[in-house]
Amino acid sequence: MCGIVGYIGPSDALPILVDSLKRLEYRGYDSSGVALLNIDKGRIVLNVQKRPGQISVLESQMEHIDSSIGMAHTRWATHGIPNQINAHPHTDDKGTVAVIHNGIIDNHLKLKEELKSKGHVFLSQTDSEVIPHLIAEEYKGSNGDLFEAVRKTVHRLEGSYAIVVLHRDHPDQIVCAREKSPMVLGKGVKGSFIASDVTALLKYTNRFLYLEDGDMASLTRDGIHVERIAGGPAERPWKEVEWSLEDAEKGGFKHYMIKEIYEQPRSLHQTLSGWRSEEETLPKSLSKANTARIIACGTSYHAGMVGKYLFEKYTGMPVEASMASEYRFADHVREDPLMLFITQSGETLDTIMAAREARKRGSRTLSITNVLGSTITRETDLTLYLRSGPEIGVAASKTFTSQLMMMYLISSYVGFSTGYISRDEYRSVQGHLRTAIRAVEGVLKDVTKVMGQVEWFKGAENAFYLGRYINYPTALEGALKMKEISYIHCEGYPAGELKHGPLALLTDRTPVVALVTNDHTYDKILGNIGECSARGSPVLAIAPEGDREVSKYTDRVIYYPQVPPLFSPIPISVILQLLAYHAADQRGCAIDKPRNLAKSVTVE
Ligand code: G6P
Repeated sequence: MCGIVGYIGPSDALPILVDSLKRLEYRGYDSSGVALLNIDKGRIVLNVQKRPGQISVLESQMEHIDSSIGMAHTRWATHGIPNQINAHPHTDDKGTVAVIHNGIIDNHLKLKEELKSKGHVFLSQTDSEVIPHLIAEEYKGSNGDLFEAVRKTVHRLEGSYAIVVLHRDHPDQIVCAREKSPMVLGKGVKGSFIASDVTALLKYTNRFLYLEDGDMASLTRDGIHVERIAGGPAERPWKEVEWSLEDAEKGGFKHYMIKEIYEQPRSLHQTLSGWRSEEETLPKSLSKANTARIIACGTSYHAGMVGKYLFEKYTGMPVEASMASEYRFADHVREDPLMLFITQSGETLDTIMAAREARKRGSRTLSITNVLGSTITRETDLTLYLRSGPEIGVAASKTFTSQLMMMYLISSYVGFSTGYISRDEYRSVQGHLRTAIRAVEGVLKDVTKVMGQVEWFKGAENAFYLGRYINYPTALEGALKMKEISYIHCEGYPAGELKHGPLALLTDRTPVVALVTNDHTYDKILGNIGECSARGSPVLAIAPEGDREVSKYTDRVIYYPQVPPLFSPIPISVILQLLAYHAADQRGCAIDKPRNLAKSVTVE
């Protein structure tokens, strides 16, 4: 995971690096560091400063160095505990080369042994430290050509990397390279930039170049040069990103997450209105699909599970939803003609590797992402964009509801293309989605309903979320949201399975959240609420407005505005996000940066 930034230009580098790095803190926050090249008493000095803890620790303790070229890193530990020594940048023995790295070098032990036999001394337990040592070795034979030394070095690396390199003899050059870890270049009026993603740089530029796997680049004061690591040119277009700096800031909210929860009426409108242009890109061959598979991780997987029910409803074809990390290692008995990959960031490595695998096997691959130019867009035949705007909070909120919306849209579109549903039915889905957006507005206007239940929930240590049919995945997502930000242990469960195990765990200290939908599951879920109440568990029901029955089973009910039952996951999810957010806030948790988690999981 980890976040990386680099800068070369006329301005004071350090404030730019720290400001940009802070915008990447969602990618890792266990230690951070910065490297700058400056002139001291007529000599060029490579200055490295690093600290364990959040970026604010580095910021408050670092010495200001005047420099116009540098790089910075925020770490999410994979090899070696989070401490000062393991923090990036890493250097060679002589302190001439500094490197920051995002990814994992699989063959680092072998390389380390080789370098040790040549007299190199290692200080950290990281895999990354071999990189500056290797560059120092290769530099000797490269006639002072840093670009070539980096090229030779990365040829020897196995695994994933986005690296940025500074060398004491090159005060006007930054070299970077990527393989399976994200990296973008930015060009602004005041200099050139590198970052793990565009949100870090929106303050300085809207023009970005997305490096591809196997690309490397040299940034100098005269411009940017991109090449293939294997040699030869790499023509990469510069793209204008529409996101504004405001989109990526908190705008008066206490946390990004709550800002993003409140943005949902707008983000959902954007997804819906963007559908018209997305629809035009869809190939006619979709009408021939007779099965499909949806692949994703985490919250995106839950959206995919909702998608499974919707595809089955609107297309009549059997659909599987699989976790990317499992799908990759499964024995595949059948080829799936249509493979759908859902990833908010477009950078989740398991999802990307699964897409690569599917393409190799000849499946038609489609991705759904929120990030323009992200890796998944190159790994799949076609991409649909969520248009939710940047999401910074580690726990996904607005991108989840946009993903849900996309599931309604694409499944009904395929159903219409295959002739399973009529044009009118297809159009009516979009009408129902507009109703769902109004329901979300209603939920957000009347947040006191949720607040009234937070106090009751916040002291719990274990809880169950129950749902059936289309709201079974909604229950899974509600439980995930609560556990990742509040650290309350929550389990999402299909309500019908309760009696096959979990009932044994229910006590008067185990809250149960039950999702009630006015469809064919209605009576059954009321029965489940009864089962829990009978064991003394306090039950919070989330039910449609106007319901008269549920209050007979429990006196804790949050009502959501009426929507057609199939569309209820959208407003219910917003209620569950608010419940999780306010419970976590009252418990004093680090909501935007939950312990041990990162927003973009670019390691396997
Ligand atoms: C991480 C994040 C989750 C996210 C998951 C998949 O675990 O913390 O919020 O759902 O990755 O991310 P993706 O970008 O592929 O949707």
